[in-house]
Amino acid sequence: MSVLGALPKRVEVYEVGPRDGLQNELRTLPTADKARLIEALIAAGEKRIEVSSFVSPRWIPQLADAEKLLGLLPKRADVTFTALVPNLKGLERAASAGLEEAAVFLSVTESHSKKNINKSVAEAVAAAREVAQGARAAGMRVRCYLSTVWGCPYEGLVPVSRVVEVVKQIADIGLYQLSLGDTIGVGTPNQTAQIVGEVSKLVPLEQIALHLHDTRGTALANALVGLQLGVTTFDSSIGGLGGCPYAPGAAGNLATEDLVFMLHGMGVETGIDLKKLVEAGELAQELIGRKLSGKYLQAALGEREKQAARARAAE
Ligand code: HMG
Ligand code: MG
Repeated sequence: MSVLGALPKRVEVYEVGPRDGLQNELRTLPTADKARLIEALIAAGEKRIEVSSFVSPRWIPQLADAEKLLGLLPKRADVTFTALVPNLKGLERAASAGLEEAAVFLSVTESHSKKNINKSVAEAVAAAREVAQGARAAGMRVRCYLSTVWGCPYEGLVPVSRVVEVVKQIADIGLYQLSLGDTIGVGTPNQTAQIVGEVSKLVPLEQIALHLHDTRGTALANALVGLQLGVTTFDSSIGGLGGCPYAPGAAGNLATEDLVFMLHGMGVETGIDLKKLVEAGELAQELIGRKLSGKYLQAALGEREKQAARARAAE
C-alpha cells in the first residue's frame, strides 16, 4: 500500500478531446482530420472515446458532421464510441449513425442549464429521462453528465446539497455511469472529497466518473483525491483540448497524457501507451494549429527537440 492508501489497480480513461475539445475550437476540423486524430488515440490504446455530439448544429457548428464522422471511423469490438445526445431528435440521428453509447447531459444550476440547452433543470431531467429510455430501447448504453457540480459561471460556488438533489432525480434513469463535471475548473480537493462522498451514497462508486477541467490547475489534484476514494473512471482530453462554449472561462479538460503519466507513475494501469499518446497529442496540435496546454506533452516534445539538437551538434 502506498502512503496515499490503497489505490485502484486499474483506471479507465474516457477520452473527450474530439468532442469537448473540438466543440470549443474556433477552427472547425475537416471530418477526415477528426477521424485521423481518433485513429491516433486508438493506436495509443484508448478504448472509450467521445467522438462528437448530436446537438443542434446552430449551437455547436464545429460538430455538425457527427454522422459523417461515425461513418469514417473503424468498427472495433474493443473500442466504444460515444457522443452527446440532448433530445429525441439527437437520439434519432445517433441511432441511424450506429452510435453504441449515448451521453445525456444536464447542469445542476438553472442559469447554466438555460444557457447550455435552453431548458430549466426540471425540463432537462425530463429530457434526459426520455433520451435514456429511448437509447436503451435502441440497444445503447447510457452515460449521464452533470455539469457545474463544483461551481457555475453564473451562480458561483454550488452547494453539495444542490448536487445531491439533482442526482436523486436522475439516479434511476438507467445510466451505467454518472460523470461529475467541474465545468469551469474551480474545484479544490476538499470539495472533491465531499462531492464524491455524498454522491457515492446515491450512486455506486464504480459508476462514478470525474470530468475535470483544468482552468485553475487543480484538475490533477482533484483526480488524485477521486482515485484515493476509489473512483476508477476519469474523463480527459488529448493535449488538454477543451472547454464549454456556454461556460465563459472554461478551459481545457485535464490532459490525457498528464493523467496517464501520473497513474503509471503510481503503478495504476490504464492500458495506454504514453509514447503513442504523445504522438496523438502532436497530431492534435498540428491539426488545431496551436500549442496545446498539456504539460507532459510539452515536456516530451521539448525533450525530443533537445535530443535532436544534440544529435545535430554531434554530427
Ligand atoms: P433549442 O433551440 O431550444 O431547440 O435548442 P428546439 O427544439 O427549439 O430546436 C431549434 C432548432 O434546432 C430546430 O431547427 C430543431 O430541429 C433543431 P429549425 O426547425 O429551427 O430549423 N434541433 C436539432 N438539430 C439537430 N440535432 C438535434 C437538434 N435538436 C434541435 N439534436 C438544444 C435545444 C438542446 C437542441 C440546443 O440547446 C443544443 O443543441 N445545445 C447543445 C449545447 C452543447 O452542446 N453544449 C456543450 C456540451 S455540454 C458540456 O460541454 C459540458 C460537459 O463537457 C460536462 C462538463 O464539462 O461539465 C458535457
Ligand atoms: Mg466538459
